[in-house]
Amino acid sequence: MTIPKAELHLHIEGTLEPELAFHLAERNNITLPHADIDALHSAYSFTDLQSFLDLYYALMDVLRTEADFHDLAEAYLTRAAAQGVRHAEIFFDPQAHTSRGIALDTVINGLTAALDTSLQRHNISTTLILCFLRDRPATEAMDTLNAARPHLDRISAVGLDSAEVGNPPEKFTEVFAAAAELGLHRVAHAGEEGPASYIWQALNLLGAERIDHGIRCLDDPALVTHLATTRTPLTVCPFSNVRLRAVRTLAEHPLPALMEAGLLVTVNSDDPSYFGGYVHDNYLALQQHLGLDHEQLRTLARNSFTASFLPAQRREALI
Ligand code: ADE
Ligand code: ZN
Repeated sequence: MTIPKAELHLHIEGTLEPELAFHLAERNNITLPHADIDALHSAYSFTDLQSFLDLYYALMDVLRTEADFHDLAEAYLTRAAAQGVRHAEIFFDPQAHTSRGIALDTVINGLTAALDTSLQRHNISTTLILCFLRDRPATEAMDTLNAARPHLDRISAVGLDSAEVGNPPEKFTEVFAAAAELGLHRVAHAGEEGPASYIWQALNLLGAERIDHGIRCLDDPALVTHLATTRTPLTVCPFSNVRLRAVRTLAEHPLPALMEAGLLVTVNSDDPSYFGGYVHDNYLALQQHLGLDHEQLRTLARNSFTASFLPAQRREALI
């Protein structure tokens, strides 16, 4: 049986399965550079975050219409339901679409068309997290936040993703302050490939309430103590860390060390279509490769609800 859980670190664009990519390419009269599904699959061997991002952004070209974004989200929700997901806080990357001429309305209307029926159809509550691309200018992030203002009833938080090293959180201090003024929650990818100092910046300069990945915190004992005492959640993504070579093997993943340090750890899938599995597959792999027992998996699932932005009533009901 799959344990009921929340998924808090999931890029909707990273759920684009090769089959759906080819289907949408055909529907939109686009020729992909890959001969077929197998050829696309064989492009999924990454050496680091950037090598993944290059393919991730290129393949998004098949997403053009509201129907495409709807179908993408609906396919994710169908898979998530089978993985025991009862609540999903879903990242999306507006700039990856607006920069290629797709209107923000198209993206959000398409996604929300699927999210609107998710509770009834899949028993999954949902919310959106608008991510800024950290390898683009901070002014563009501010423009994106302003463009999203009419949709803020559908968005609970802002996040920060894309190429981490060389793009420190401090670059986005102003736009995160503006998001806080608008009543949005704040999260940020930090300490995936970048140093522990980026996690400090995300906390102290951006007001991040959760750290996405955050595994590099272990390089800084004072930071680990701080994260533990403030109960700041980490959204850890084991398959992603191995596929992007932040960690050598699952058996060497630092998740047990993070748990032993008293951190509020959650397990998530990041970009499941690219990294070899959805969220419950990550849980199972922790059991197989790190020997986590059922009680530890239950703790991780409970943490996922505790770390969510759900209203207290539904959160308590799900825990
Ligand atoms: N965008 C999609 N997946 C990402 C990841 N793992 N890190 C940073 N940006 C991302
Ligand atoms: Zn991510």
